[in-house]
Amino acid sequence: MASVTPDIRTMTRSDIPHVAALEAEVYDQPWSPRVFFDELAMDNRHYVVIETEGSGIVGYGGLLLVDDDAHITTIAVAPEERGRQLGKRLMLALVDEALAAGARHLTLEVRLSNSSAQRLYEIFGFDPVGKRKNYYKDEDALVMWATDIDASDYADRVAEIRLSLDEVAR
Ligand SMILES: CC(C)(COP(=O)(O)OP(=O)(O)OC[C@H]1O[C@@H](n2cnc3c(N)ncnc32)[C@H](O)[C@@H]1OP(=O)(O)O)[C@@H](O)C(=O)NCCC(=O)NCCS
Repeated sequence: MASVTPDIRTMTRSDIPHVAALEAEVYDQPWSPRVFFDELAMDNRHYVVIETEGSGIVGYGGLLLVDDDAHITTIAVAPEERGRQLGKRLMLALVDEALAAGARHLTLEVRLSNSSAQRLYEIFGFDPVGKRKNYYKDEDALVMWATDIDASDYADRVAEIRLSLDEVAR
């Protein structure tokens, strides 16, 4: 039986209670609902949610756009839904949005110990470029960049990821 492709759409204010509940489940130092309201109110932010049939919102992610750079501010998938390529779908949506907004480079911070997220970012061409001391209360952050996302090499990378997901959904 073919699986139903999850739906990705822009996050709205009415999604925030659900998103904030998921955030509290996923992170030790979660953003409050107020932070999400403030983020959605800013012009240079773009947040998306991913929904599956039956489960509703099972993940979300966000971007901060400044000039040529797009900063991935957050990405999370519900624990029981991980390993089903939803993180890749969220990343694809964020890359699409960054490109549409004219960004040429992507950056993010990730916990040094968070190897599964780092692996996801590597698939999207992110390289580690340095560390930010005490970025989290209890841990340093690894700073990662994916540069020249407007180049054809990067378009090829993204097309390959998209194709692999289409094959999974088929
Ligand atoms: C990081 C996160 C968003 C990934 O979501 P996901 O839906 O499980 O990711 P996917 O199924 O799309 O997997 C994408 C890739 O990530 C890597 N990955 C995911 N889970 C992994 C794990 N448990 N171990 C190792 N690699 C893993 C794999 O390389 C995978 O690609 P593959 O399936 O082709 O091997 C999810 O684990 C999460 O919400 N974690 C908690 C929040 C978090 O740490 N966010 C990042 C903050 S910087």
